[in-house]
Amino acid sequence: MLSKKLQNELNAQINLEFFSEYSYLSMTAYFESINLDGFSNFFRVQASEEHFHAMKIFDFINTIGGKVNLETINKPVVEFDSILNVFETALAQENRVSESINHLMDTAIQENNHAVISFLKWYVDEQVEEIDLFTNLIAKLKLINNDGNGILLMNSELAKRKAAPEITNTSSE
Ligand code: FEO
Repeated sequence: MLSKKLQNELNAQINLEFFSEYSYLSMTAYFESINLDGFSNFFRVQASEEHFHAMKIFDFINTIGGKVNLETINKPVVEFDSILNVFETALAQENRVSESINHLMDTAIQENNHAVISFLKWYVDEQVEEIDLFTNLIAKLKLINNDGNGILLMNSELAKRKAAPEITNTSSE
């Protein structure tokens, strides 16, 4: 059972997750355009994770008897100054998502909705991991300081990233 307020906030979260997918696809396109296929692969996988995050909420709203309402997805940033600028934009996006998840959790707690609280815990943990991931990659990029060999090494590492099994096995579960 969902209140109108929680339903609206969950629907807004679906929109933010799809916007994240779109943002990471834009970053994928940027790296394709400068021929850094490993970086491009990293963001393509990241975009697929965001799709999974959105669809997980989509399915949850339906399971709990609510109604999904899809809204317009905003245009993402499409121009980047540097590799570091891409990752800083990504970290800012993840911080925004974390704030939104925390706000949703606050609402679920205020309404004493245990099903939603339990559902959102997965997202709270996921956000900790995502912010840690981007923070570490930014630290690495700052150490590399635009050195060509360092960038190529990182490109090879990021080429190995694969989507998590739960994402490749099914669209949302
Ligand atoms: Fe679904 Fe990266 O937040």
